[in-house]
Amino acid sequence: MIQIAILAIMALHVLTLRSLDGRDLAGVPTPLTSNLMLIPLLYAAVGFGTRGAVATSVWATGLFGLHWALFYVQTASNEHVSIELVGMVVLAASSVVVGRHVDRERDSRGGLESALERLALTETRYRDLFDHQPSPVVVTDASGVVVELNAAGQSLLGEGALGAPLHSVLGAGSDELTTGRVWTIRATDGEERLFLVSAHRVGAPARRALTQVVLVDVTEQSRRLELQRALTAGVLRAQEEERLHLARELHDDPLQQLTYLTRVLDDSGLAGGTREAVREARRIANGAAVGLRRLIRGLRPPVLDDLGLLPALRQLVSEVQERTGVTVELNAVGPEVRPAPEIELAAYRIAQEALSNVARHARATRVTVELAVEDQLVLTVADDGRGFAPGRRTAGFGLAGMRERATLAGGAVTVRSQVGRGTSVTLALPVR
Ligand SMILES: Nc1ncnc2c1ncn2[C@@H]1O[C@H](COP(=O)(O)OP(=O)(O)O)[C@@H](O)[C@H]1O
Ligand SMILES: [Mg+2]
Repeated sequence: MIQIAILAIMALHVLTLRSLDGRDLAGVPTPLTSNLMLIPLLYAAVGFGTRGAVATSVWATGLFGLHWALFYVQTASNEHVSIELVGMVVLAASSVVVGRHVDRERDSRGGLESALERLALTETRYRDLFDHQPSPVVVTDASGVVVELNAAGQSLLGEGALGAPLHSVLGAGSDELTTGRVWTIRATDGEERLFLVSAHRVGAPARRALTQVVLVDVTEQSRRLELQRALTAGVLRAQEEERLHLARELHDDPLQQLTYLTRVLDDSGLAGGTREAVREARRIANGAAVGLRRLIRGLRPPVLDDLGLLPALRQLVSEVQERTGVTVELNAVGPEVRPAPEIELAAYRIAQEALSNVARHARATRVTVELAVEDQLVLTVADDGRGFAPGRRTAGFGLAGMRERATLAGGAVTVRSQVGRGTSVTLALPVR
């Protein structure tokens, strides 16, 4: 269209020049009709930018050259040529200026458009991640009201959750849905499942900040863990029962008989070589009785059941001292209340394992055992031995067994150790 307009204006210009033949048009010099070229030049600039403006200006100027050469070689006055030439320069310059402006505008709009496009793409991607996340994700506003749910969240809590406070949807207290909590949720299908809560703030201005709550289904894991705990508890109980049974049997039958035997040998009033032989037999019988008593104490110290944890620990400590030659100091603080029997047993077994580790691994010169029974039972076994790196995976079951026993009794074991700096094992248990 632009090229046709240029040709048409050129034709009009030539016709005007021809028909007026040197006379002016109501006082306006006829060469000025060439200024109509401004119209297609501006169109070119607006439509095609700098490139359109330059190309069209060059083409229009070329046409002027052609019309001078073809029609007016003789007749065109200098005045005529210079009016047209200056006119063309002004037109071309205007058109290029407009063209450049159009280019800039288009560039910045293009930039904005592509930025918006990228933004939309990112948004789609994040939305996809959010929606396809298999764990329910709930977004709440600053007042705890659900403003967004992903697909899994919707199928867990139902559409009704949107717009309601999350803690009332989950039947929780307003400060209970914190990271690390495990929460029981009855899903829309009626099944109860356990979810690990992980909540974190997103967005900066506090008033407008959102909280993202991710609920990770841990039903299977917790059921398995519960089963494992129950199994371990069962195994430990069976082991303790067996030990108690063995200790009683050994005490009631072979030990009584040996004791009786030593007494009989003591009382036998024999003379000479026979007396020597009997004395020897008495020594052997006595040694067997001592060994048997130690075995019984190891299996299940009667003093633990009869007198309680502290006397049992005293006995244990003196045995370890005797056996290893290491100085073991026992300190006890707190009132002499007796914790529940299963708590005493758990504490005793843990102390036993900790001290056996000291004897087997620590190469210590000094060991302290501290017992405090107050609101809770706290027992510490600390040595100055060679220590170890506690993070390292170990082959034995000793440390793991201590932890498991403590957990089953409702408490916890903390092991601190540093290579070259000794080891301390701290046990905390509820008293009841
Ligand atoms: N008091 C200690 N001093 C030094 N090393 C220890 C101590 N207690 C435990 N360890 C280290 O931790 C490891 C694991 O201990 P444990 O679980 O009781 O298994 P085990 O005694 O059967 O080797 C030990 O092999 C030892 O290397
Ligand atoms: Mg051990």
